Amino acid sequence: MTMQAVDLEVVPQNWTRSHLLDLESLSAEELTLILDTADALKERTDGCRRKINLLAGRTIANLFFENSTRTRTSFSLAARRMGADTIEFVASGSSLSKGETVVDTAKNIEAMSVDAVVVRHRTPGTAHLLSHNLDCAIVNAGDGPHEHPTQGLLDILTIRQHRGSLQGLTVALVGDIAHSRTARSNIWGLKKLGAHVIVCGPSTLVSRDWEKFGVEVAHNLDAILHRCDVLNLLRIQFERQYTRPFPSVREYAFLYGMNRERMAKAKSDILIMAPGPINRGVEITPDVADGPHSVILDQVTNGLAVRMAVLWLLVGG
Ligand code: CP
Repeated sequence: MTMQAVDLEVVPQNWTRSHLLDLESLSAEELTLILDTADALKERTDGCRRKINLLAGRTIANLFFENSTRTRTSFSLAARRMGADTIEFVASGSSLSKGETVVDTAKNIEAMSVDAVVVRHRTPGTAHLLSHNLDCAIVNAGDGPHEHPTQGLLDILTIRQHRGSLQGLTVALVGDIAHSRTARSNIWGLKKLGAHVIVCGPSTLVSRDWEKFGVEVAHNLDAILHRCDVLNLLRIQFERQYTRPFPSVREYAFLYGMNRERMAKAKSDILIMAPGPINRGVEITPDVADGPHSVILDQVTNGLAVRMAVLWLLVGG
């Protein structure tokens, strides 16, 4: 799929979705439309710096039942850059502590004339549940280990901006694949757009079952490194694990951490990515995270562009 010019005056007729719940159900054409819209909005807003009033009069509610730095800030800023009003709900201090359910909480916030609810929750399927119970647009901002569609989109947009196309690229997702919603969204999106995907990590975090998704499974980073155009280094999610999946963090860093020695063996134009937050010295050393191959902060900027695009497609026009 190549980039298409996007008209930002009207939402394209070939966009028919009311919600963004996952990347699994999107077609390559729908993924490409979101990416093209994000590119157009990034250009129109001078790199996501300027305001553009395409969502004036709309209200976007951020419902975060789980911690977030990047996603919550980014959705909030994206909505305000587009001229929308925002509601910021955080679970701590809310009436959840009095026994109110997630659905009732969301319905009450929707009743304040909200056009879209952006939801993050540790339970897989929460965004889908809200989409069946509310009338407004629902955007999944991460549901446990299931999916994180806008993270997948911003990762893919970053690769596309640096390489022109996803077709034929080899992208390795390294680390805690078992608990990673980012891995799942990346796999669905990358494969639909023509990339070869490798999932790499210790066998306790990367089982052979992943081959069912049409990806290559690897347990030895050094053996695949020379073939990779992109490395996306995923955080070890200790908070979602019941047992330690490897003997020590030091051993994990030795076997799977991206460092200067491994960079010397990688392709000369390799892209180093991480969804964040990063554990410096575990999945990536500081010199690599801050080095010339790193596009980690480009990913964050592209998060704004992707979220502006998603909000525009769902509630714009
Ligand atoms: N990448 C990501 O989702 O970061 P946050 O948890 O800080 O939102």
